[in-house]
Amino acid sequence: MPNMFFDTDIHTVSDARHLAKKRLPWMVFDYIDGAAGDGFGEQANRDAIRALRLKPRVLNNVEQRDVSVPVFGKKSDLPFGISPMGMCNLAAPKADLMLAKLAAKHFMPVGVSTAASTSLEVMMDTSEGNAWFQLYFSGNEDASNALIKRAQDAGYQTLILTVDVPEVGRRPRELRRGFKMPFKIGPRQFIDFACHPQWSLSTLFHGKPELANFGGKFGEFDRTSSRAGADWGLLAKIRDAWKGNLVVKGVLDPSDALKMKKMGVDAVQVSSHGGRQLDGSLNAINALRDIRKAVGAKYPLFYDSGLRSGEDIVKAYAVGANFTFLGRPFSYAIAAGGSRGLDQLTDILTQEVSITLAQLGETNIVSLGANHIVAA
Ligand SMILES: Cc1cc2nc3c(=O)[nH]c(=O)nc-3n(C[C@H](O)[C@H](O)[C@H](O)COP(=O)(O)O)c2cc1C
Repeated sequence: MPNMFFDTDIHTVSDARHLAKKRLPWMVFDYIDGAAGDGFGEQANRDAIRALRLKPRVLNNVEQRDVSVPVFGKKSDLPFGISPMGMCNLAAPKADLMLAKLAAKHFMPVGVSTAASTSLEVMMDTSEGNAWFQLYFSGNEDASNALIKRAQDAGYQTLILTVDVPEVGRRPRELRRGFKMPFKIGPRQFIDFACHPQWSLSTLFHGKPELANFGGKFGEFDRTSSRAGADWGLLAKIRDAWKGNLVVKGVLDPSDALKMKKMGVDAVQVSSHGGRQLDGSLNAINALRDIRKAVGAKYPLFYDSGLRSGEDIVKAYAVGANFTFLGRPFSYAIAAGGSRGLDQLTDILTQEVSITLAQLGETNIVSLGANHIVAA
């Protein structure tokens, strides 16, 4: 049923971002859209993806195209999944549930953040088994083990261990707005919310977003607490404790990736956290190319950071990814148009991937490789 409250006109990720910017309180938009430092790193990575040029091939019959991709022995109907994001319900009430339902509809993975605004159990049920749990690797082993056990009990088969946050990156756009997690409302936020009544009324009606995996015996989550004590020894223990698929997310260095492969990590997710951690970081898309060379052709590599179109997704596969994830674009789409906006954006990305395959003279994702791209 069309959403009466949203007049959604999304044809690109930029359209969704533009609408999200209009509809969200400044503080919330800056939390979602923001990056480390001045945001140069976030922009530079997107520019590096754009600078890769695709090589069209002609006169292959490409009538029958398949955008599905196998991942950990299951078929994802779409060649991209949803990156874990904390406090998604800030984009709109029930945003997490919209993402979980999208994952169920397309059999695509949805990452459930440690800092999710819906509990990991509800996300597992709503996604009909397509949820992957993301753990922030803390120095407190008991707390990490309790969450791992809880994810296991809830039926999770895949654990994503995020390792690129030894300290939370400084994100000036959040700092200027006084953004806090858990959410705090002071006079500055009050004015911001008063200027965005549609968002504020619906959030007031549904209750302010919570850190749903915490409280009671699971204690409190302090987003700013240091995780600097996490080390290779802790990774080895988690590999021992977790019997399912283990993905390590936030890797940019070939020798780190190689070491993880040797330690029995099932997949490495090459990511610069969407430029949210280190403004001067190398471009994640270039790291993907170098890590692919280091780990060999067969080892599973996932990629996120800066993908903004179906062409970008195809480029990531051509550079060496076995699966891709997007973060901000899904939040923009929800803020722009609720579940309808989310469906629209998903359809657009899927169509773009399929059309790009046709232009390259290919019929499926797994055939993509370095021969499809040239540097600018
Ligand atoms: C609002 C927001 C919250 C995020 N929270 C988490 C998180 O809790 N855990 C995590 O591993 N990554 C988190 N990320 C990073 C994403 O998982 C992903 O790496 C990044 O968004 C990908 O870049 P993209 O936004 O350019 O697609 C977050 C990203 C955003 C935008």
